Amino acid sequence: MAQNDNEYYKAYQREKQARDELETLLEDKTRSLYLANQELEANLTQLKRQHAAILQSEKMATLGVMSAGVAHEINNPLAYVNSNISTLGQVAKGVSDLIKASQLFADNGLDQQAFKETVKALEEKYQLGFFAEDAQDLIEDCQDGCQRIAVIVASLLDFARPKNNEFVMADMTEAIDSALGLLANQLKHIELVVEKAEIPLSFCNLAALNQVIINLLINAKYACEQAKTKGICQTPLIKLLLRHANRQLLIEVIDNGTGIEESQIEHVFEPFFTTKPVGQGTGMGLAVAYGIVSEHKGTINIKSKPNQGTKVTVTLPVCTSD
Ligand SMILES: Nc1ncnc2c1ncn2[C@@H]1O[C@H](COP(=O)(O)OP(=O)(O)OP(=O)(O)O)[C@@H](O)[C@H]1O
Ligand SMILES: [Mg+2]
Repeated sequence: MAQNDNEYYKAYQREKQARDELETLLEDKTRSLYLANQELEANLTQLKRQHAAILQSEKMATLGVMSAGVAHEINNPLAYVNSNISTLGQVAKGVSDLIKASQLFADNGLDQQAFKETVKALEEKYQLGFFAEDAQDLIEDCQDGCQRIAVIVASLLDFARPKNNEFVMADMTEAIDSALGLLANQLKHIELVVEKAEIPLSFCNLAALNQVIINLLINAKYACEQAKTKGICQTPLIKLLLRHANRQLLIEVIDNGTGIEESQIEHVFEPFFTTKPVGQGTGMGLAVAYGIVSEHKGTINIKSKPNQGTKVTVTLPVCTSD
């Protein structure tokens, strides 16, 4: 019996030791899993931060490419606002002299003849007749010019502002219109055909899609300009089509530019792949577009023939917010 008890006790001790060892092992594993998980989370946060920084710096690079055209766009209205204000400034001096003369006349400081002569002289000096007719137009042109500048500056600020995950129910046509507005001046030497069908609202990030369209249009424009310089095509043409079928939105950017060599097509979505001379492209445009389109659960494809042109097709599902 005593022998049995002893055996039982030993077995119990062995089992207890094994369980203790197992518990310690489990504790160690749990701790290292916890630490590994924390490290993963920290890496993920850092990756997300780096991703946002890359998106932002690509945006800034695009802004650099657009800046010359945008400066010109602002310069135009600025020139006529300046000129109108200078005309209005001169005439304002004449009107002020006219008011003084009228006051003097009203206070009997001038007789009728002298007043008539003063008015005639002022009229000739400042062309007050012309002013009376055209002042309103000059002022309206100024307002119109300032309004145009304000719209351009607002779109630029809007484009440059870092935005994360601003998904809302919106009409993607707005992203297209805003891109076309920002690039209007840069595309003015290119025949631009825009066809936009009515589309339903979709859950999307308009600022990000705006960036996609801008990147595609800048690529198309560059390819067209190169083709013209090389004598491949005489009339550069870019078509931008927006269609809707079977709950899918289709955006196509088609150009008759230089096209892409077959061996290069598979690389165009790779970050930093560029065929542009140093300083002219970072090779991030299509990589960023690919990322944004994927975030919208869509696809982006490119078809191209050297010396004939390129067609980029973006397909996006119509999504709801839930
Ligand atoms: N429409 C196009 N026609 C001809 N080649 C194109 C077109 N779009 C893209 N490519 C080719 O794909 C490459 C990568 O394009 P991507 O937009 O990613 O970078 P990039 O235009 O070179 O530089 P970035 O857009 O960063 O200024 C281009 O350098 C060019 O060779
Ligand atoms: Mg590009």
